[in-house]
Formats: sequence, C-alpha cells, structure tokens
Amino acid sequence: MPSKIVFLPGEGIGPEIVAEARKVLNALKPYDFQFEACEGAVGGVAYEASGQPLPEATLDLVRQADAVLFGAVGDPRFDHLDRTLRPEHAILGLRRELGLYAYLKHVTVPNELSGLSPLRPERVAGMDLLVVRELNGDVYTGQPRGRRRAPDGPFAGDREGFDTMRYAEGEVRRVARVAFEASRQRRGRVASVDKSNVLETSGLWREIVGEVAQGYPDVSLTHLYADNTLMQLVSRPTDFDVILTGNLFGDLIADAASTLTGSIAMAGSAMLGDSPKGICEAGHGTALDIAGTGRANPIACVRAAALMLRHSLDRVDLAERIEAAIADVFARGFRTAEMSAGAGTRVVSTSEMGDAIVESLAS
Ligand code: IPM
Ligand code: MG
Repeated sequence: MPSKIVFLPGEGIGPEIVAEARKVLNALKPYDFQFEACEGAVGGVAYEASGQPLPEATLDLVRQADAVLFGAVGDPRFDHLDRTLRPEHAILGLRRELGLYAYLKHVTVPNELSGLSPLRPERVAGMDLLVVRELNGDVYTGQPRGRRRAPDGPFAGDREGFDTMRYAEGEVRRVARVAFEASRQRRGRVASVDKSNVLETSGLWREIVGEVAQGYPDVSLTHLYADNTLMQLVSRPTDFDVILTGNLFGDLIADAASTLTGSIAMAGSAMLGDSPKGICEAGHGTALDIAGTGRANPIACVRAAALMLRHSLDRVDLAERIEAAIADVFARGFRTAEMSAGAGTRVVSTSEMGDAIVESLAS
C-alpha cells in the first residue's frame, strides 16, 4: 500500500522548498517506497482563497493522511487580522487537530560547515543537539487569557493583556518520556530547562521530570534555568545532548540552537503525538524577500522529509539515506546563497540543491 502524504506548502519560499523535498521523496522509488501525494492549502494563501488559514478541506486531507509535510506560513500583509485568521494560526490548529505535543528539532554542525556559524568554528564543530519542546500547553493554550482593564496596582484602569502559564503533570510526563527515550538512542544526557526560581509552573515541571528520570537510570539528568541555558548554548553548544523544555522556552531555544549552524534552514523539525502521524516541517519562516528568486535553502525541508520517513512512515533506512546524501552534498561543496561560500564550494539554486541531493542518493 502506498503511503498517503499530504504536502502543505504554504507561502513565500514554502512551495519552493516543499517541491525539493518532494523531488527527493520521488527519487526513493527504487528503494521500495511508494507514496500517494496530495496538496492542501494553508496560511495566507488559504485565507485569501477561502477566508480561513486552515480550511476544513485541508483538515480532511490531513485526517486521512499517513504523514504530513509542512512548508512555511506567515505574511505581514495579514498582521491586521484577528489572531485566529492570521497565517500562523494554521500551525497551531494542525497541532491541536493531531494532538501533537512533542516538537523535535535536531541541530547538527558537521566539521566542514563549522565556519558558517556565527560562533567561532571550534566552538560549534561536532555539535549534535536535539531540542525536545512541549508543544501543546504552557502560555500558548493556558486559560484564562485575554484583554481587560488592570484591576489594581499603579496601573489600575490601564488596558492590560494577560496569559496563563500552566502545565498538568501528565503533560510534563509524556513529553519528558519522549526526551528520555530519544537520549537513549544518543549520548544519554538530558538537560531539562525551566525557570523554577521564579515560576510555580516550572517548579512542578522540575519535580515531574525528576520523577520520570527515575525510570531511566542509564540517562543522566541536569536541570538548568532558561536564561543560563541560552548562555551555555552560545558558549558551549557541543556540551548538550538533549534539551527538554516547555512550549515558550522551547520556541526560543529551538530557534537559537538552529541559528548556530549559520543558517536557520539547516535543521528539520518533527511535531509528534501518540500516533505515528506527525507533522514534519522546515521550521523556519517564509522569507518573502527571497521568494521566487531560487535562493532559498531547501535543506531543512528535505531533512523534514527524512524525519517524516523516520517517525511517521517507519522507514528509518530511507531517512538515513537522505541524511547521508545531504552530508555528501556538503562534502562535495554545494552551498545555497545564504551560506557564505569559501574555496572549493559552489553556490547553487534551490532546485539545483535538490538535484544534487538526488544525485547523491543514487551514488
Ligand atoms: C514555531 C513558530 C510558532 C510557535 C508560531 C508561528 C505559532 O514560532 O513553530 O516555533 O510559536 O510555535
Ligand atoms: Mg518559533
């Protein structure tokens, strides 16, 4: 039975990078991999066509799919709309629909690319970090939230915005297990990140992660404050194995970590729940300024396709094949426009990068 893959290209460079991922997936046909593709509308383009950033028709496709590959959404032209109608809301709706609660971002810096990092090359060379971010709770969904008049204090009567940070113990437990399980396949170290010196939510987080750790005596656990984590990340990034954290801190840490590669388009992301069906995505923005110029880097999106094969389609062999092809492409000197190129390298367009990966797959 062919796998059913839904592609959600979105806008900006989304369609260009998804096209390259699809090209790479097509090239896997000789390895006993068949898929049926369909495409759904999300984001600003969907809003323009149907008045919704996540139309019901797209949700239907996603419900029937085995795996979902997401491009990018976001366009400031829609910033004046109600929050629930903005392009970004599509991603929140998809996470909710599929019950996705774990966000995995795998950030690696191979030696030959360490020169691209904003940090000194010797600081990042060999970096291999997995960020496990809780994706469903925290201030993202906590109630109550809203606008009101400040009830008291020196600013009483002012307009006030408020959100609720919260986690139930079961929510912490299930994502903690994802991080501990993943670290077992890696170097066996989990750093759990919170702000328990200030926040009640974090106090509970720390307690529950400690309890879960008792079931993993082979994994070492450290607790770090969020501010300290960012300092460590920009000074000693190679020290980390798995970072486990909540939704808001994870949003910041995952982007900071991927930036250490020198391009936010290098690390792919997987959003997972209890079933194999997740959503894999490049995890960067729409880069509207370069859309249509052939300068977008498709690597994160191709890596997302590899994550999809690994987590949703039970084809770890093919995921590894793609990762090896990407390593080969870099070793052969192929770079995209935003990666400053040195001697022995060649800057190629989005689709030439896809072609190069396909070539490496076959070799
Ligand atoms: C991400 C994004 C989203 C988030 C936005 C677009 C809602 O920043 O996937 O990290 O904050 O989760
Ligand atoms: Mg983010």
